[in-house]
Amino acid sequence: MKNIVVLVSGGGTNLQALIDSQDRGDIKGGRIICVISSKDGAFALERAKKADIPTVVIPRKDYPDSKAYSEAILAELNRQQADLVVLAGFMTILDECVTKAYPYKIINVHPALIPSFCGEGFYGLKVHEKALEYGVKVSGATVHFVNEKADAGAIILQGAVNVENDDTPEILQRRIMENVEWKLLPKAVSLFCEDRIEIKDGRAYVLDVRDKK
Ligand code: GAR
Repeated sequence: MKNIVVLVSGGGTNLQALIDSQDRGDIKGGRIICVISSKDGAFALERAKKADIPTVVIPRKDYPDSKAYSEAILAELNRQQADLVVLAGFMTILDECVTKAYPYKIINVHPALIPSFCGEGFYGLKVHEKALEYGVKVSGATVHFVNEKADAGAIILQGAVNVENDDTPEILQRRIMENVEWKLLPKAVSLFCEDRIEIKDGRAYVLDVRDKK
């Protein structure tokens, strides 16, 4: 069983999707052993507690910079003996001390079709505001591995939705969450735990069960 540690900052609907998926028995080969929040009082912590998952709060505001914060996160991940780290609405970019210690072992969900509307400054509702401002007709979400560049790691799964004329950022966000994020994040976590993601030349490929070595 792989030890899954989930990092959150806010409402935690993606964490809830992972918990629900785990409860249905859909995450084979792994279990969520801990939820770490960058914010005290994040509603995601309530979701974890309700599911009897241990929580740790490491407040971003208590650290002077990203490096010091990332070192604290790294120490906790090591203490938890994490096999997989899932960023589920985690709003802090982690320093390379973490990404180098967990290569191809950190998965993030980003609410756009990477390489559009991603990178530093693109997070949460801002992503949807920018997509609507640009006038794109489809948007979606991307589940990808995390490396030392923001939103630039190997893509595992992507899914798209249509953008409607009268969409607001909130409406588009909700459509993307419901139709893509809450489905693809648990799916990618399950694929990882079943060793069904292969890395070749820096790209990620999902293996068919038959192809698994
Ligand atoms: C989700 O849409 C997630 O994709 C996004 O923030 C929201 C968090 O919602 N993450 C990012 O923008 C990270 N760059 P949640 O707390 O309800 O899961």
